Parts: sequence; structure tokens; C-alpha cells
Amino acid sequence: MNMKVNIAGVEWKNPVTVASGTFGSGAEFSEYVDLNKLGAVTTKGVANIPWAGNPTPRVAETYGGMMNAVGLQNPGIDLFCERDIPFLKAYDTKIIVNVCGKSAEDYCEVVERLADEDVDMLEINISCPNVKEGGIAFGQNPQAAEEITKAVKRYAKQPVIMKLSPNVTSIGEMAKAVEAGGADAVSLINTLTGMKIDINRKAFVLANKTGGVSGPAIHPIAVRMVYEAANAVKVPIIGMGGIASAEDAIEMILAGASAVSVGTANFHNPAVTMEVVDGIAEYMERQGFEQMKDMVGLVK
Ligand SMILES: Cc1cc2nc3c(=O)[nH]c(=O)nc-3n(C[C@H](O)[C@H](O)[C@H](O)COP(=O)(O)O)c2cc1C
Repeated sequence: MNMKVNIAGVEWKNPVTVASGTFGSGAEFSEYVDLNKLGAVTTKGVANIPWAGNPTPRVAETYGGMMNAVGLQNPGIDLFCERDIPFLKAYDTKIIVNVCGKSAEDYCEVVERLADEDVDMLEINISCPNVKEGGIAFGQNPQAAEEITKAVKRYAKQPVIMKLSPNVTSIGEMAKAVEAGGADAVSLINTLTGMKIDINRKAFVLANKTGGVSGPAIHPIAVRMVYEAANAVKVPIIGMGGIASAEDAIEMILAGASAVSVGTANFHNPAVTMEVVDGIAEYMERQGFEQMKDMVGLVK
């Protein structure tokens, strides 16, 4: 039994990574998780310059998950390259750098800066619902999504994963647009825009008013969208949204994901990623799967 997967020419030892923004740069979780056991580590979004993020409060609990409006707080690409890449290089895992920006120029600057760095893949976040400009503006319009993909591809030396928003009418159309722009892979879903009101304070719970909903509550929506995206494009899909167990991850793979990311679940069970890796291995043994690709998209 072999758990290796090939995502746009990059071989991961298994199909499990973490969802950007829920695992820091890996260092924060390295006490709980043997990073060598993960197929890849996906880092928190990084921009060309440091961003302070949104005002607080910016996280809240919801039924079966959480809501956040962190607003992509990050240290900027210079500190990231100096501090976070060397940390991750000490481990035997692939490195996926998640990139955010407010304009096409912002994204391209980060991608160009990363071209000569020793990282394996880039994930371009065009789907954050919590930043006022950029981000989501590219993720809700197929033409804009195709254009930003083309722009980034001109500078990228590593394979490019375009990260899609679920806050659209047709996820298949968005997947096709980034594929047409030259995306090497597609990841989904980012968070679903939500709102929570404190009835005693008679005020919004989050300072940003709205936030992105994540966690187990969104899992069935994510499975449906992964299925639709996988059936719309030929490039590999990295599936995420509410994965909290091996069973959830397997569901995503059977729906068409070649790899999976575990996000919000890391917050209440920091060792969950290792349980997901082991659980997929047990399932493959039990069900007689020799290799991962025999499972991907099996349910039609
Ligand atoms: C606190 C928090 C921060 C996040 N930050 C990022 C980010 O920087 N870049 C990004 O592309 N997605 C970010 N996301 C979205 C996740 O990567 C993921 O797409 C989403 O949460 C759905 O997966 P989950 O339900 O397993 O958490 C963030 C999510 C949370 C909860």
C-alpha cells in the first residue's frame, strides 16, 4: 500500500496537508505534530509587506465550527523568507506557501520573490472574505480569476495552486477559469461568509461585522463543491472544509480531491493531522486500495 500522491509534478509522501492560517508556519504546532509525517505544510498567507489584520474581536465560536475575520495578518515576505522557510526546511515535508495581496502587483511581487526560494508549491488566495480590497475581488469573477492566474504564472517558478472561494454561484465555472489561466492545481473551499450578533450587546460579535465560517458545519458544502470542481477540470484538486477526521478526508478524496487540508480542527485537536494520515492508511488496508489514485473521485 502506497500513500504517495503527485500534485502538479510534486510528489507528497501522503495526501495530507494543513489549511492555510490554521497551523501558523508549522513552528507553533511542531510540539504536537511530527511535521515529517505530513505530505505538505501550507503556511499562513503572506503578503509583500507586513499586514496588521483587522480590529478585534476577530474570532467567534459557531455551531460546529468558528467564524474569523483575522484579515490576513502577516509579517510580510522578507521576515517570512528569513525565519519560516529555514524552519520548515529542517523537515522532510513539502512546503506550500500561501500568498495574499490587494492588487495583481502585490501577488506578483511575492511570487517573484519566492521564485528563487526553496519552496515546493505556491497557493494563491483569491478567496479571503475578510479583506476589503483585492483577495475576494479576484475570487468571485471568472474573468478576474483567470487574469490574476495568468499574471501570477508569469512570475512563478513553482507550481501554482489557485484557492477558490465558496461564495460564488458556480464553483465549476471558477475552477475552469483558473485552469484556463494556467493553474497547476485548485484548492477549495475557503470560508463561507457569515455574521453573528450578540443579542445582549445588540452588536456584531466581530468588529468586521462579517467573518468566514469554517469547521465541521461547512463540511457537506465543501464535499459538494470539491465534487463539482473535480468534475469541471483536469488539474488536481486539494479539498478542504471542515475535515476533522480520517473519515471526513476520505469522503473528500472519494468526491474527487487528490489531496486534503485540515484546518479549524487543528485548534481543538492539535494532533488531528496525524490521526487523519493513520486513518487513511488503515482504510486503504481494510478496503484493499493499493494506491491513492484508485480512490480519487471513485464516487461518480
Ligand atoms: C483563523 C483562520 C485563518 C485563516 N487564514 C487563511 C489564510 O491566511 N489564507 C487562506 O487561504 N485561507 C485561510 N483560512 C481558510 C482555511 O485555510 C480554510 O480554507 C477554511 O478554514 C476551511 O477549512 P476548515 O473548515 O478545515 O478550517 C483561514 C481560516 C481560519 C479559520
